Amino acid sequence: MSQQAHPTPQHTEAAEANEPETPHLDFEGTTPYEDYVRADVLTHLQQTLSDDPGEMVFLVTTQVMELWFTVIVHEWETAARALRSDDVPTAVAALKRSVRELQALNASWKPLAALTPAQFNSYRGALGEGSGFQSAMYRRMEFLLGDKSASMLVPHRGAPRVHAELEKALHEPSLYDEVLRLLARRGHAIPDAVLHRDVSLRHEPSEEVEAVWAALYSGDPDDELARLGEALTDVAELVWRWRNDHLVATRRAMGAKLGTGGSAGVAWLEKRARKNVFPELWTARSHV
Ligand code: HEM
Repeated sequence: MSQQAHPTPQHTEAAEANEPETPHLDFEGTTPYEDYVRADVLTHLQQTLSDDPGEMVFLVTTQVMELWFTVIVHEWETAARALRSDDVPTAVAALKRSVRELQALNASWKPLAALTPAQFNSYRGALGEGSGFQSAMYRRMEFLLGDKSASMLVPHRGAPRVHAELEKALHEPSLYDEVLRLLARRGHAIPDAVLHRDVSLRHEPSEEVEAVWAALYSGDPDDELARLGEALTDVAELVWRWRNDHLVATRRAMGAKLGTGGSAGVAWLEKRARKNVFPELWTARSHV
């Protein structure tokens, strides 16, 4: 037998000295990774309600989307705060991060996009009256976009923390309110009725606001406010895409049946998907 086949202890030590350090294995309690990520909690939240093997990906996709909603709400709240203190670069950076996150959110439709009615039926009954319509984090996204509605708090009366968070979001100016207030502070003719509106109600499109965006889009494209407008348009487009992907997945999975949440299903979602996010940013384009 050669020396090479049976290395001496000296040889082994020399070889190990050249090896990259391996990660640490010994920890007093739980790992620092677990303490930060809470993976043990996160990966034990998948309590399926049926025996169907396809239900797991439905539940996890929904949970993944809830996590993305949470990140996106965080970004838009950061952007709204920055706008309130006239810090447009910080707001645009947060909006741009949210654009990447919305793309990741939308990509998570993939595993559910081709669900057949038979596959969905295998666990649909187990969902009872459960519906994404009852997602409080999605509602916070809509509130930040300016689509406020007090009635959307009603389903959450039984969950005090969720209800309190939604109620606070209802009465705070939306991201779009903060954008329009900033435009006014920068000398643009945003009407008083828009600036002093009851922020707990839905933002209604205004011709004067449309004219301000049209003027901004007709000017220098590198202007800070024009760039803000484009970041908001990216956000609006991706939210619209999420709604449409949801609509198509629903149409494939259940046709024209009623929704588990009690709505008319596809017909109701079609109406929701037709709504424009930041409406004047779209209509202004006809006047540039
Ligand atoms: C392919 C599977 C899915 C089907 C068939 C489906 C079906 C529906 C239907 C019919 C509605 C209308 C309300 C109702 O009556 O239930 C709805 C609303 C909703 N769903 Fe889904 N859904 C699916 C997947 C998801 C996923 C994965 C999410 C992620 C969280 C989600 C989030 C929502 C939200 C947020 C609403 C409310 C939309 C709004 O208020 O405009 N859905 N869904």
